[in-house]
Amino acid sequence: MDKLSPMIILTKRFHNGNQYPPGPPLTNALSNLRAFQQRPLDFLSQMEAEFGGVVRFHTGLLPVYLVTSPVGVNRVLQSNHRNYSKQTFTYAMARALSGENLLTSEGAEWVRRRRTVQPLFHRRVLDGFGQVIIAAAQTRAEKWLSRGRPIDLVEEMMGLTLEVAGQTLFSVDLSTTTAEVRAALNTSAEAILGQFQSPLAALWTLVGFPSPRSQALRQANDYLDGLLYTLMAERRDCEEMPVDMLSLLLQAVDEETGKPLTDREIRDEIGVFLTAGHETTALGLTWTWLSLAQNPDTESRLHRELVTIQAGKGGAGGMKGWPSKAD
Ligand code: HEM
Repeated sequence: MDKLSPMIILTKRFHNGNQYPPGPPLTNALSNLRAFQQRPLDFLSQMEAEFGGVVRFHTGLLPVYLVTSPVGVNRVLQSNHRNYSKQTFTYAMARALSGENLLTSEGAEWVRRRRTVQPLFHRRVLDGFGQVIIAAAQTRAEKWLSRGRPIDLVEEMMGLTLEVAGQTLFSVDLSTTTAEVRAALNTSAEAILGQFQSPLAALWTLVGFPSPRSQALRQANDYLDGLLYTLMAERRDCEEMPVDMLSLLLQAVDEETGKPLTDREIRDEIGVFLTAGHETTALGLTWTWLSLAQNPDTESRLHRELVTIQAGKGGAGGMKGWPSKAD
């Protein structure tokens, strides 16, 4: 369960004048690094318990900021986001691994990219995605019931979110290639995570030094390139494009040049949705099940809410009647 951390780690500027958030002294860098490598979840939980919702610590020369308080997360991602530039070592890594995309861009470039994918977030489109998600969850739950034995929740949630990503991003059933896709995504995720846990690994990635990790990463990228470029080519031959991210990006036009996006641009954008949308959600769901099992009152409330949605307002599984932010 070591990888199941719900926390956010940022290596961004996070200080107010000369005032840094609390944390262990720089001299702890080596012991922090060891603890982070061996028991990441324990180490991060301990940092939070000892120093609070915003902690500054070192696992090498660069400081890492761990933000777990909701107010802190809101401040970084929303209310004071301009303060947190993406011109950092970590984002340089992310760019080296995943190219230029919504996650790695900022400022005017981010606005341009965000506008391109905006139609994907229209309520009507999300309503369709909601139905895809509910159908996938129901089919999986029925399989669990018919099997009648304990399940490996992490595996099942990983499978479920990959299935949903395949359907919503490319309208494709990824179940036949689940193992290969997951292995490739896992290699990318480990490369990103590895940078936090090993300053040397970070440096090797940045300078492109050949290592077993960089070789594995290249193979993973080649696999994903092959998959995504094939899907693009197949979609171009399609007479009627389904509503999904791939169609949207293939039909999008660059605001400045008036030209369609290149295959590389589409690959980098869609690749990050696949990487960022699969494991995060699977782990979030896994923790949710654990939390619900530990909080029976909340679990009952969830069941009541589901019954209400199914019985009335939500109809056959759309998003109508789902609680809004204000509820
Ligand atoms: C529980 C699940 C998730 C968590 C905890 C999570 C976490 C985050 C965080 C913290 C960021 C901000 C990163 C930053 O600005 O430094 C982010 C951005 C992003 N996430 Fe997620 N994410 C989740 C699910 C997803 C899903 C399902 C997708 C796609 C299908 C996705 C795609 C993205 C993209 C494209 C960005 C960049 C957005 C932008 O800058 O406009 N994420 N995510």
